[in-house]
Amino acid sequence: MASVPSLASNVQQRLADALTAALPEAGAADPLLRRSDRADFQANGILALAKKLKGNPRELAAKVVDAIGPNDVLGDIEVSGPGFLNITITDKAITRTLAARAADDRLGVPFAAEPGTTVIDYAQPNVAKEMHVGHLRSAVIGDAMVQILEFTGEKVVRRHHIGDWGTQFGMLIQYLIEHPHELDHRDGVSGEEAMSNLNRLYKASRTLFDSDEEFKDRARRRVVDLQAGDEETLALWQKFVDESKIYFYSVFEKLDMEIRDPDIVGESGYNDMLDETCRILEESGVAVRSEGALCVFFDDVKGPDGNPVPLIVKKSNGGYGYAATDLSAIRDRVQNLGADTLVYVVDARQSLHFKMVFETARRAGWLNDKVKAVQLAFGTVLGKDGKPFKTREGETVRLVDLLDEAIDRATAVVREKAEKVGLSDQEIVENGRYVGVGAVKYADLSTSAVRDYKFDLDQMVSLNGDTSVYLQYAYARIQSIKRKAGDRSPVAHPELALAPAERALGLHLDQFGEVLAEVASSYEPHKLAAYLYQLASHLTTFYDQCHVLSADNPPEVVENRLFLVDLTGRTLHQGMALLGIRTPERL
Ligand code: ARG
Repeated sequence: MASVPSLASNVQQRLADALTAALPEAGAADPLLRRSDRADFQANGILALAKKLKGNPRELAAKVVDAIGPNDVLGDIEVSGPGFLNITITDKAITRTLAARAADDRLGVPFAAEPGTTVIDYAQPNVAKEMHVGHLRSAVIGDAMVQILEFTGEKVVRRHHIGDWGTQFGMLIQYLIEHPHELDHRDGVSGEEAMSNLNRLYKASRTLFDSDEEFKDRARRRVVDLQAGDEETLALWQKFVDESKIYFYSVFEKLDMEIRDPDIVGESGYNDMLDETCRILEESGVAVRSEGALCVFFDDVKGPDGNPVPLIVKKSNGGYGYAATDLSAIRDRVQNLGADTLVYVVDARQSLHFKMVFETARRAGWLNDKVKAVQLAFGTVLGKDGKPFKTREGETVRLVDLLDEAIDRATAVVREKAEKVGLSDQEIVENGRYVGVGAVKYADLSTSAVRDYKFDLDQMVSLNGDTSVYLQYAYARIQSIKRKAGDRSPVAHPELALAPAERALGLHLDQFGEVLAEVASSYEPHKLAAYLYQLASHLTTFYDQCHVLSADNPPEVVENRLFLVDLTGRTLHQGMALLGIRTPERL
């Protein structure tokens, strides 16, 4: 495994050296390199330098060009405009760099220089409740971030902060006590059955709770028993959790996503810490008593009436809420799991909660310069009408129904082409699943997370445009070319001149590692999706302009083009895998 410096960093280094050689008085100056339409790169740094040195920028630029000296990376450098440098890389350097990438399992992508430990909180549905599109977003974005961070060498600890605690369990458990055997364990119960059992129980107990005062009282006392750790009560609570997990796992499996049991540490997992968390906050003065509750106040958080809105860590009745749990989770993640970064993939509508929780943790010293917390906040999933996604009856859409529909549509798309490709029925079913689930994931990942997006299945499974299907077809087409190539194999030939479409594709391929590094540090997986889409677009232009297996091509041109196609395929495959999307070999 060898990491390969990108052409951009190679050029940057050479220019920085030339700057120092030509203008020693400038010190270590940044050439300010960026991609350019006119040449491959443009360096703008000399303008600011000239100002500082009170020199003529074009003259200084010429000096820098002279200092560069002979090399086979920088092909053509011209001084342009007020003193920019336009730089064209040699074809040889492009092919050589790509060949080094191809020789590495990781496509030459380096590990992060100083990897740390990130605890990421994502895929956190609620016990005894149906999963909806909001849970989809957290799971999909979170899973992609886990893969991307791990690929950069970061140690990643996953936490699924499921909603498994709260007063609603009093009602559920009490109902189960009065209607026993409703959740008795049955071997092989499906996720769907588990959820429908839970739904039935939930509805029945809710109806009773709302209509029968005596049941309400018994349910409330049951909450007290649960909090006191009464064994029988806890055992019944556990039944709800287990039944829900059967359902969660079935949905995650449908999503083609690996969730591991030890990583599911729900709200209840922090119960033992709540007392201490509150004591520390109160003793340190971070939290104060206000109207019987333990509260943290913020200068900039006020309600509509202008009065400060506190974060309540302990209610006046002694109960703990969502905030006390999250604060305890921070202590656990920092002090026991050794996190230096905490990431929360949670709906933007909870942003105020996290702002207050993080600020409280900072005041308490659990977060600081060395340990940071970020909310990777995501927007709302909208229906085609631009309103929050609901069924016609106005209910939240069940995630499983959405996935099933996506898979149905995708299977139809796959089936249409199946005969031509010669797919078996089994392959059609499997690909339909990968295409359907991929479409849903990609639609989510390809828009910036904070933005709301429209859930539009027609668009998602379209073969044209910025969709996963388009990328999956690009990959399958590559595999088909490789099969057709027979015994002609991909071989890099750095001595060959490259056509413009080959250069464009090559320069884009070279940026994979830089894009990943950026995505890993900014938590913006949509930039990886955009990169892959551009890669597929470069590939399309390349196919149009450069025939790969044409009999008119000299053998080394065929080999070199196969090499480009092959590296593009590997990059697409790796990139899609990091987004959690499969790339079938034949489609
Ligand atoms: N279960 C919550 C929900 O469905 C999300 C939990 C987010 N994570 C956290 N640490 N609060 O909205």
